[in-house]
Amino acid sequence: MVLEGKTALVTGGSSGIGLAAARLLQDSGARIAIAGRSREKLEMAAAELGGDVVTIRADVTSPADLGRMKAEVEKAFGSLDILFANAGVALGTPLATADEATYDRIMDANVKGVFFTVQAVLPLLREGGSIILNTSWLNRVGTPGRAILSASKAAVRSFARTMSAELLDRRIRVNAVSPGSIETPIHRGNNQTEEEFRAYADRVGAQVPIGRMGKPEEIAAAVLFLASDASSYMLGAEMVIDGGRSEL
Ligand SMILES: NC(=O)c1ccc[n+]([C@@H]2O[C@H](COP(=O)([O-])OP(=O)(O)OC[C@H]3O[C@@H](n4cnc5c(N)ncnc54)[C@H](OP(=O)(O)O)[C@@H]3O)[C@@H](O)[C@H]2O)c1
Repeated sequence: MVLEGKTALVTGGSSGIGLAAARLLQDSGARIAIAGRSREKLEMAAAELGGDVVTIRADVTSPADLGRMKAEVEKAFGSLDILFANAGVALGTPLATADEATYDRIMDANVKGVFFTVQAVLPLLREGGSIILNTSWLNRVGTPGRAILSASKAAVRSFARTMSAELLDRRIRVNAVSPGSIETPIHRGNNQTEEEFRAYADRVGAQVPIGRMGKPEEIAAAVLFLASDASSYMLGAEMVIDGGRSEL
């Protein structure tokens, strides 16, 4: 198996894209740790994944939690080959009405959280390791009501370049996946029925050249590629997987 003997940490590994990536990395031979805020979601994900998945309750916006996350990964694995810094939030921020609290929630999770997640686990990362960041197709386009989310993801896109340059001497590659609209719980409203969600997914899908929303597994496939030596010549790059939405 392509990741036999490797270890991987997936933040936000209890749901959506992170959970699909954790599953594929595990199926490819890696030992997996997943992190997230909700212990209940982590336990459900671990039960779904099976095997000896390590679960770590950590909020990526909290430096103390990130220090504990690093310690728990070290205790479980000793070192780390792969980090998928995936945890993030998505909230609308219309220019005229968005408030400071929403700005802080988005920037804290998506920008500060990613930066300090990488910093926290850096001492554990082995030479030749791979860091994959989760940006978004939104960093490439102007979509009304999404200024803060899009800017947060543009910062993450930029991190892939600078971090890769800083880690050249340790032969650690940093790249980003850039998902389009992917069917995950991030798109689900409170108390939304399955029928209401399907109607929403059809509406969003109709705006995508390929004609549908994406599946978490379609992003996980790119994460696996970037995690493995198959992508050994890629540094600071962005893999856009968006059904053509930002290209056509
Ligand atoms: N789905 C899309 O259309 C799409 C498109 C582009 C980019 N993305 C990006 O993909 C990533 C994953 O999103 P998803 O769609 O898979 O959503 P999701 O199903 O809601 O998963 C988000 C994951 O992140 C965790 N999380 C959120 N805030 C956290 C925090 N402060 N600390 C630790 N963990 C946190 C959540 O667990 P807890 O709530 O328990 O903490 C959950 O495991 C995000 O960065 C998102 O911006 C998604």
